[in-house]
Amino acid sequence: MGLLRELRPPHGIRVSVGRSDGGTVKTHRIAVIAGDGIGPEVIETAIPVLDRAAAKHGFALEWQRFPYGADHYLKTGETLPDEAFRKLRNEADAIFVGAFGDPRVPGNEHARDILLGLRIRLDLYINFRPVKLLHPDLTPLRWDSATIDFVIFRENTEGVYLGRGRIDGGKYIAEEVNTVAGVSRIIRAAFEWAKAQGRTRVTMSDKSNAIPAHRIWQQKFKDIGAEFPGIIAEHRFIDTLALELIREPERFQVIVTNNLFGDILSDLGAALIGGLGFAASANLHPGRAGLFEPVHGSAPALAGTNVANPVAAILAGALMFEQLGQRDAARALEQAVRAVLAAGVRTADTGGTATTQEVAAAVARAV
Ligand code: NAD
Ligand code: IPM
Ligand code: MN
Repeated sequence: MGLLRELRPPHGIRVSVGRSDGGTVKTHRIAVIAGDGIGPEVIETAIPVLDRAAAKHGFALEWQRFPYGADHYLKTGETLPDEAFRKLRNEADAIFVGAFGDPRVPGNEHARDILLGLRIRLDLYINFRPVKLLHPDLTPLRWDSATIDFVIFRENTEGVYLGRGRIDGGKYIAEEVNTVAGVSRIIRAAFEWAKAQGRTRVTMSDKSNAIPAHRIWQQKFKDIGAEFPGIIAEHRFIDTLALELIREPERFQVIVTNNLFGDILSDLGAALIGGLGFAASANLHPGRAGLFEPVHGSAPALAGTNVANPVAAILAGALMFEQLGQRDAARALEQAVRAVLAAGVRTADTGGTATTQEVAAAVARAV
């Protein structure tokens, strides 16, 4: 798990509740939007695991559930009402999210409003996506690649995700927004994190050989990289990076890229470490509450069958713990997941026979 110390908000602790011995226990207020498909099952099985890890480490979690997702949208026409948005912004220490996407909403407008809406409106400009191999036999690569351990810094508030453009006269036009401020702050975040973690290489990826607007990524990477003399700043075009990540994943430490490329690379990264069932992400803005979620989607075909891998959701909880300042609990969770994987308790996506709940229960016991 990446350490998020320097990305942690100054607060993170909102209330204290009484303990029987007269002391107080720190309580973090967590808003939950479980969403669609396997979202609710992975989130609801992860929550008791997180509660147990919290209890073991002397803090508590107060969960507040929000009903937004495809069902709610189809019933009410509401995606994310303003009042709920204000609550999420003002009252939560963190937001814990499942996944959005439902065949009954082919335009995916609820996911755009809820998930992309929260990322953009809360200005959570860092989408922090660690790619870390937790057991050597999970990688599909032939050779021993036990050292796969890099982080993708995905820009999270610009690019094609702003949905700008137009459809008219047979033309389908999507605009990609790259601002000096937006590009600079994600590149800076990647270097600062690398420096704080003692990492020695940051790789920036763009497509500036075909997209003139990507020149700004080249310029800012050069300028900001020069402020970090101890760190090798290297560039790869996105196509080449996709190839190299499969050929030699162990050489990468920190990757910084735009919103769309970061989305695609994070599924590629997930494949290197056992699949989407193991990939977690944190949406961050230093000094503010963050949003934590698995990288995977709602996997409609698996919904309700108790076979979804809950590890990505549990590890999203570990990222949340780190950002809340609960580093020991975050580490303990990751260790527990490693132990459970080593013991062979696995869901069907990695050849196991355990159910969603059995894997989560095993992690809870191992914490
Ligand atoms: P997906 O991530 O839902 O599924 C891709 C593949 O991975 C499928 O084979 C699925 O069965 C498998 N998979 C995913 N999570 C798994 C888990 N925890 N355990 C075991 N197997 C798992 O991506 P998709 O099929 O492209 O999209 C399905 C829906 O989810 C779409 O509506 C899409 O828009 C949405 N989506 C949402 C998010 C999100 O909310 N963050 C992310 C990606 C996709
Ligand atoms: C992700 C997802 C989302 C994205 C979709 C659901 C809009 O794929 O979080 O990786 O593209 O950001
Ligand atoms: Mn994605």
